[in-house]
Amino acid sequence: MVEVKAQELNYGNWVSARMMYPFGFLGVVFLLLSLQFFLLIVVAAFFFIVLAYFVYARYEFSPRGGDIQTKIHRLVLDRLNWSGQGHAIDIGCGNGVLTVKLSQKYPEAKVTGIDYWGGKWEYSKGVCEKNAAIEQVLGRVSFQKASASKLPFEDEHFDAAISNFVFHEVADAKDKREVIKEALRVVKKGGKFAFQDLFLEKHIYGEVDDLLREIRQWGVENVEFQDTSKADFIPAPLKLPFMLGTIGILYGTK
Ligand SMILES: C[S@@+](CC[C@H](N)C(=O)[O-])C[C@H]1O[C@@H](n2cnc3c(N)ncnc32)[C@H](O)[C@@H]1O
Repeated sequence: MVEVKAQELNYGNWVSARMMYPFGFLGVVFLLLSLQFFLLIVVAAFFFIVLAYFVYARYEFSPRGGDIQTKIHRLVLDRLNWSGQGHAIDIGCGNGVLTVKLSQKYPEAKVTGIDYWGGKWEYSKGVCEKNAAIEQVLGRVSFQKASASKLPFEDEHFDAAISNFVFHEVADAKDKREVIKEALRVVKKGGKFAFQDLFLEKHIYGEVDDLLREIRQWGVENVEFQDTSKADFIPAPLKLPFMLGTIGILYGTK
């Protein structure tokens, strides 16, 4: 029974299949071209190595492999020091995994997951709802299409907010710090938040100390940073900067 449930659940994978196709395709193209121009075998090998890396990462992220995604989600949930009373938002919920886990952790809470569900990812509102039904939390969660750059909620609407690996992706916000500000806008004064993203990526967010200083200037009561890139369950090959090598959590009380 538990096995059937695990098979039906679909929380997706941060290395989507469609992310890997171009490397496989280019590998085959250059392999064929190398039959005419032998040196192109080096280019073909490069694409196959990148493909092999992504296949490995996809496996490690999945429950069949290292289940790294679940462990990383747990880090965010553990940092949300919330009473569980009231209404929470999961910003960029993907297939709804954190929305569901949050509502399971806090059985009295109401949780809203928002996402723009663009073509880049294999996520959708329908799959979110199916996952929530399987996990038996559908009555307490809801999902809504929206952009993290302009949340369709008034100021201080939520008692808590979480987000995982979303802010750096928000294409219509040039300055990604503005996405953090927008997320905090919808949290009540005294409400809790925990956001995980590539916060150690200086070209996106600048220096962490400077980022923390700016967040405090927005009137946030308490904000801390945890460098989660050092978590010992993350295998060394996944600690490359474009993977999990620059991740961290901003958490605290607004
Ligand atoms: C790496 S996935 C993470 C999904 C989920 N939070 C998780 O932990 O599995 C990034 C998510 O950000 C969403 N996203 C990207 N830009 C967005 C935007 N402007 N507004 C809302 N969601 C966005 C994508 O649709 C995708 O679901």
